[in-house]
Amino acid sequence: MFTLKKALAVFGLESTTEQMPAFSRSAEGRQLKSYLPHDLHSVGHKIGFLKPLARPQCVSVFVTKGGVLKSSLTLNIARLAALHGIRTCVVGLDMQGDVSNALGEAMDEDVSLDEALSRASATKGLAQLFTGDATLDDILKPTDLPNLFYVPETPELVALDQSLINRNRREYWLRDQVVMPLKREFDLVILDCSPNWNRLITNALVASDVLLSPLECKINNFRNLTTCRALIQEFAEDMQTQFKHLFVPTRFTPTRKLSREIRDWYLTNLDGCTHEAVRESIQGEESMAMRVSIPEFAPTSVAANEMRALLTEIWKTLQEPVVRSGHRTHELHLGAN
Ligand SMILES: Nc1ncnc2c1ncn2[C@@H]1O[C@H](COP(=O)(O)OP(=O)(O)OP(=O)(O)O)[C@@H](O)[C@H]1O
Ligand SMILES: [Mg+2]
Repeated sequence: MFTLKKALAVFGLESTTEQMPAFSRSAEGRQLKSYLPHDLHSVGHKIGFLKPLARPQCVSVFVTKGGVLKSSLTLNIARLAALHGIRTCVVGLDMQGDVSNALGEAMDEDVSLDEALSRASATKGLAQLFTGDATLDDILKPTDLPNLFYVPETPELVALDQSLINRNRREYWLRDQVVMPLKREFDLVILDCSPNWNRLITNALVASDVLLSPLECKINNFRNLTTCRALIQEFAEDMQTQFKHLFVPTRFTPTRKLSREIRDWYLTNLDGCTHEAVRESIQGEESMAMRVSIPEFAPTSVAANEMRALLTEIWKTLQEPVVRSGHRTHELHLGAN
């Protein structure tokens, strides 16, 4: 439930002179004095900080390192976009299924094992689309927000990765069969990737307008960064593919000297590094556990302010026109070599 004050705070405001949308009604039709989560998008549409996108965009969240907040960033971007009335679809590409867990309905604790298993095995995803056992409409799932849908991860993603190897134009399946059709219905498609380089990742890169790579402000990330940049650059050149590459510093601890120095190094040396970072925070951790964005969970926290500023920065890249240059078509901002 969001009182007017809390609803404004989600979008970073204390007050407004705008005429606000009417409060929600309860299931029985009673007028409430607050907004329910599924009505909050009418507020975001009116007074939010994200403007509609000029054309549909596909964003991949990928880097070859685990636990760097890929899925948390996906969840934050997806929920906040949807709360601004932007039609958003998340496609889960990680067998761990973290983003599907965050977006899906929590399993009722009282449900029986039989019921739970039958629900889980009835879930269809990309693997069933690939084999022709489901259509794209069959695998799209709704969430608690009316503008947010997702394609769930299923264990068969492992088999899909293998099947893609034997297919002609194997790098293009996701773009042609999933992302392009989704872009006809959604303004924003977000691909939440695993940290492992596999065929689903190469498919995601080819389908993307923007690649977002979270980088921890930790020393062990440095070596990984060099390998990852080389891998992505080589792939993009081989495939003559075109996407903008943004790096987002994560797990930033402003009180630690090393963390500050690493973040400064990213800012100085990585072309495409966002000015805003995601700080290491309890609100970040707890909001993920509660399956909501940081601004919904703790709207007035520093972490929420920074997440709004980060999204505003990412939005500028999503709004930029795509530059199409002659024969060198990929557009990688990989900074100093
Ligand atoms: N701002 C934050 N500060 C600290 N912890 C956070 C923050 N945001 C999320 N977390 C926690 O960090 C853990 C890892 O985050 P997340 O799952 O987003 O990483 P990931 O890069 O997707 O990992 P994987 O490579 O396994 O897919 C999660 O348990 C999450 O709750
Ligand atoms: Mg993840």
